[in-house]
Amino acid sequence: MQIATPYSRGPTDGDTFDQIAQSLEQVGYAVLSGVLPASLTDSLFADLKALEQAEFKPAGVGRQDDFQVNRFVRLDKICWLRGESQASAEFLAWTEKLREGLNRRLFLGLFDYECHYASYPVGAFYKKHLDAFKGQSNRVLSTVFYLNPSWQPADGGELVLYPESGSEPLEVILPEYGKLVIFLSEEFPHEVLPAHRPRHSIAGWFRINTSSAVRVDPPSY
Ligand code: OGA
Ligand code: MN
Repeated sequence: MQIATPYSRGPTDGDTFDQIAQSLEQVGYAVLSGVLPASLTDSLFADLKALEQAEFKPAGVGRQDDFQVNRFVRLDKICWLRGESQASAEFLAWTEKLREGLNRRLFLGLFDYECHYASYPVGAFYKKHLDAFKGQSNRVLSTVFYLNPSWQPADGGELVLYPESGSEPLEVILPEYGKLVIFLSEEFPHEVLPAHRPRHSIAGWFRINTSSAVRVDPPSY
């Protein structure tokens, strides 16, 4: 009789969450491949493609009253996920498990998660920016999940992560199909280099609750 070890079953969410938590603790970011089932990745890609023509809007900078579309900063088009399709509901269910898994391991107090599909047309970029400024935002952890079948180095569109201060990149990440990147929103300036093919992703943020009696945190949509 053979006794199954956890690894003989292949990676489980528990193993994945351990790996992400450890990496966040040690370096503040994690880059992983194949953490979502291939069938879910395929159905997210199909969902994005189905919505892309009709539902995507130019992405802006800032929230609510500060919202501006600035074509010098970013050129992607986006559509918020609200769990309306089976694929997006499954993705949100997985991020909910991740939220609980990271709270349990790192005591981050993550409260919710918001995310959007993003499409970068050929030549599009997103200039170096931070997703959150210290003490001014409820975004704590940024995630990007890539939906680009057979992406090649020559296709560009890399995500470049920088240290908090300094212009030498920490990581240059190809946006390959099924890859997930997670990083601390306040600590890593980052940019998206121009893509030579249309580039697709789901960008998301785990948030802490900074609502008070006088100010309710708005979602971004
Ligand atoms: C963002 C972002 C990175 C990427 O949407 O804020 O930085 O690789 N995206 O798409
Ligand atoms: Mn960003």
